[in-house]
Amino acid sequence: METKIFKKDQLDEAVSLLAKGELVAFPTETVYGLGAIATKEKSVKGVYAAKGRPSDNPLIVTVSDENMMRKYAKEVPERAEKLIKHFWPGPLTILLYVKPGTLPEAVTGGLDTVAFRCPDDKLTHDLIKKLGYPIVGPSANTSTKPSPTTAEHVYHDLKGKISGIIDGGETRVGLESTIIDLSVDQPIVLRPGEITPEELSEVLGEKVLINTGKVSDSSIPKAPGMKYRHYAPSAPVVVVDHPEDFAKINFNDSMGVMALKDELAKINLPEKNKFNLGENLIDADHNLFGGLRYFDDKTGINQIFVQGFDQGEESLAYMNRLNKAAGGHHFNK
Ligand code: TXA
Ligand code: MG
Repeated sequence: METKIFKKDQLDEAVSLLAKGELVAFPTETVYGLGAIATKEKSVKGVYAAKGRPSDNPLIVTVSDENMMRKYAKEVPERAEKLIKHFWPGPLTILLYVKPGTLPEAVTGGLDTVAFRCPDDKLTHDLIKKLGYPIVGPSANTSTKPSPTTAEHVYHDLKGKISGIIDGGETRVGLESTIIDLSVDQPIVLRPGEITPEELSEVLGEKVLINTGKVSDSSIPKAPGMKYRHYAPSAPVVVVDHPEDFAKINFNDSMGVMALKDELAKINLPEKNKFNLGENLIDADHNLFGGLRYFDDKTGINQIFVQGFDQGEESLAYMNRLNKAAGGHHFNK
């Protein structure tokens, strides 16, 4: 199968492919998504096959606005309305009860809930609007690999397996959306993202729980996808929690390092073994997946040391993805 790259003036071609049931990747402000019309079971199943994704891991339903969402949600609680008014379009995914019979079971993985997302991206907004139906939108990477933040990343993973990719340039945020579960008594963040629990709590006017993944209480639901190994390049990743620890590592040519510019400058390694995360945490969010992919494609690297951050809720999303990539492996811990 040929995988076509569409520029912003070629949306209509992408729309007609989606309408025919084919797969087209699309840009969002977080990471690229793998689109298929959400109402056709066969198309949705194609998404699992292209990604190599386990079928018990449900997909996000990407909508152009709240009205489109209402066709598929059983009810829209006041909490959801408040969050939508404040954060949509934007990097917040909201879990609600699904309206029975409106979406194929392959979308929800047989659960009675569904995750809705309305990305802040003009191209994708227009795409869904023209299609007239929502599209499923998991990240457009091969399952377990870092999510794609450029059209090139998508092409690298999925060429020959999908019909097209809409090239919207590099994504702004670089980490996937915050997921909040509103199908339960107390709102809970299932996956941290750019929008922090504190911001959500402020808008809702009530406490928002955080699923740390450590909660042993089985009554607290989790995003099924979070249980899988994720974001992992082929070489093992080690988190360096304190920048001063970089000085304690005996670096050699088979090691890679990802750190902020100032830390990198102090490390004695060839340039090809270094990946610059930028100047601050926001840059690091933006560059993390690109860096993991950079080393994934480098031969001769068999360990990657990555700078950690301890900036409270602001660094939750970054540390969540990095910990998964590292399988919980920290330097000196
Ligand atoms: O930023 C994003 O959210 C990106 C862009 C492309 O929109 N999408 C994304 O999708 O990250 P995905 O499939 O890679 O991650 C969605 C997560 C998975 O961990 C999945 O298990 C969880 O959301 N999820 C989806 N539906 C769910 C449901 N009904 N209940 C619990 N978790 C759900
Ligand atoms: Mg994903």
